[in-house]
Amino acid sequence: MNGLQRFDDTYGHTPIRKAFEEGDVYGVAYDSTRAALKPIRLGVIGAGGVAQSKYFPAVARLRMIWEPVEISAFAEPRTEHVDKVQAIYGGQAYADYREMLRAEPLDGVMVLSPDGLHREHVLACIEAGLPVLVEKHIARSLADAVQICEAADAAKLLMMTVANKRYSPPYRRARTLLDRGAVGAPALMTGKFNLGYNYVDLLEAGTIHLFDLTLYLMGAVTRVNAAGMKRKPGGDYPIDNAVVMLEFASGAVGSLTTSATALSLKPWERVEIYGEHAWLSVEDQYALTLYGGEVEGAQSWRPVVPNTQLFDEEFGGYMGIVENFCQCIRGEETPLVTGWDGCRAYELLTAVHLSLARRTPVDLPLPDPAAADAEVYAWLKRS
Ligand SMILES: NC(=O)c1ccc[n+]([C@@H]2O[C@H](COP(=O)([O-])OP(=O)(O)OC[C@H]3O[C@@H](n4cnc5c(N)ncnc54)[C@H](O)[C@@H]3O)[C@@H](O)[C@H]2O)c1
Repeated sequence: MNGLQRFDDTYGHTPIRKAFEEGDVYGVAYDSTRAALKPIRLGVIGAGGVAQSKYFPAVARLRMIWEPVEISAFAEPRTEHVDKVQAIYGGQAYADYREMLRAEPLDGVMVLSPDGLHREHVLACIEAGLPVLVEKHIARSLADAVQICEAADAAKLLMMTVANKRYSPPYRRARTLLDRGAVGAPALMTGKFNLGYNYVDLLEAGTIHLFDLTLYLMGAVTRVNAAGMKRKPGGDYPIDNAVVMLEFASGAVGSLTTSATALSLKPWERVEIYGEHAWLSVEDQYALTLYGGEVEGAQSWRPVVPNTQLFDEEFGGYMGIVENFCQCIRGEETPLVTGWDGCRAYELLTAVHLSLARRTPVDLPLPDPAAADAEVYAWLKRS
């Protein structure tokens, strides 16, 4: 760890906070410690929606606070995206990612391509000997997720999965409060997530965020029991609303509710954790409240937004992801979310799918990933 304190006890991205505390409301004053870090050249595979709305802006914001990182090249087959990204951010464009991996002296690659291509793209990065950060969900099947994690381990390469909410300040602080015993031993967790549209698989595309948070905040799950229903006719997926009961290795229990048909307007996400005479809640990746005792008042944290606002780059967790990836490449930090974390979130998703298909509880860990995938694919009617 170098001299920069990251994600400590503050509520926000520490370097930006530090700048504000020093009176630099734009957070751009020269930061000599940060500027002296080893420069990192990143490549991107897939410069579409999430790349343009989250990652390119997050890297630009990090550069503004003197993080020496750049997206020096990106691979994207669609010329309209290439032209737009180059006009805004520059960078060397490639139509074929293999060409980029061959030609560019990169320090790491962010795989932001469609889910069905993650396996191919991650394996190509590993083959090229490059550290890789892959968007959620890590792969399109549990067997593929296991395969790419094992390949990274065999090559002794850094592999991280995007679980952006783990980097989001209210969830980071909730984790810190739990570590400090602020609610005692957690006995119960509840969570909800509204996706608000049903043209993707609700659980795989949306609720997987909540599955990852469940593991992050409560630890390993040993049993799931799910029920679902389909409210809206048509569409490609068997359910668009679901409830999941959870049992944890710690002995705690939990429940998750998730909907693709209700509105996704805020509040669309909520997590509550109940302990001994205390509980906490995180609402919308924004407000954290600790009900810490019967005498004291509740404590609540919300971002103090300066006149120069902080955007989703920070509160969505994307600056934190990229910063952590760079620091891991430099050998200064360990990953907050490893490839195996992404794999475990996918395993929890698979167990929930299995429970919905079988209408019975399912125990974890799943003994046979390939058999589980086959059963889930048959239920989803996916080829
Ligand atoms: N963390 C989150 O909350 C979040 C949000 C949105 C999307 N995602 C994930 O991000 C990934 C991308 O999603 P998106 O919404 O940006 O999709 P998108 O379709 O907008 O972008 C993907 C891009 O990859 C490009 N592409 C396709 N084949 C390619 C290839 N062989 N080589 C290089 N590029 C290729 C496409 O042309 C497209 O521009 C998905 O895995 C998705 O699940 C995560």
